[in-house]
Amino acid sequence: MKIVIVGGTGTVGRAVAAALQERHEIVRVGRTSGDYTTDIADSAAIRRTFDGIGRFDALVSAAGKVHYGDFAAVTEKEVSIGLQDKLMGQVNLVLLGRDYIADGGSFTLTSGVVGHDPVRGSVCASLVNGALEYFVRAAAFELPRGLRINCVSPGLLVESLPVFGDYFPGHEPVPGARVALAYVKSVAGHQTGQVYHVI
Ligand SMILES: NC(=O)c1ccc[n+]([C@@H]2O[C@H](COP(=O)([O-])OP(=O)(O)OC[C@H]3O[C@@H](n4cnc5c(N)ncnc54)[C@H](OP(=O)(O)O)[C@@H]3O)[C@@H](O)[C@H]2O)c1
Repeated sequence: MKIVIVGGTGTVGRAVAAALQERHEIVRVGRTSGDYTTDIADSAAIRRTFDGIGRFDALVSAAGKVHYGDFAAVTEKEVSIGLQDKLMGQVNLVLLGRDYIADGGSFTLTSGVVGHDPVRGSVCASLVNGALEYFVRAAAFELPRGLRINCVSPGLLVESLPVFGDYFPGHEPVPGARVALAYVKSVAGHQTGQVYHVI
């Protein structure tokens, strides 16, 4: 399969690419790095990138920015970062990707553990992750041409402990290689409308 991994140069995306690359053709897309670049917050940029890549069999999104910070000080602008980038960015990958994905193909989006297990400072991320998971559940019913869609909700990756560890007291970090298996299940399996929690 030709598999596009948006965020394929990041911590989650690299683990996913490593798990899929032996059996599949991988196209890595990043904001500043990868085989192609795009900005998921800009639908015109997404379409240009898809035009460059051409037809593909599966799209994995492991990208999306969201604000973390004490709710007492959170502003409208900070909430909208995640809504525009992680939420609408991934939704637009699906909306626009429908024109490029082959029959029977799959979309796999990324939410995160704070969607169902919030930590201090995660309000913006919890909001976005919950929305993504319900988008996937509902969209699965209506996708045409045998297309599938799932979402992976990773716990904090071992590889991300140095950056985010302080936000997740008491959480058991998950190796990227184990998180990647959920993406393999989504892409190479047959399920749709699922949220895979890897914690
Ligand atoms: N890491 C974790 O422990 C963890 C746990 C749960 C959920 N998640 C979620 O997983 C996703 C990826 O996290 P990560 O830790 O792998 O992040 P990361 O290491 O910062 O990597 C982000 C990736 O996305 C690309 N990217 C960033 N902004 C983009 C944009 N506007 N348009 C297109 N591509 C963009 C980056 O490309 P460049 O490198 O070229 O900028 C990079 O490939 C996030 O949504 C995060 O919330 C992560």
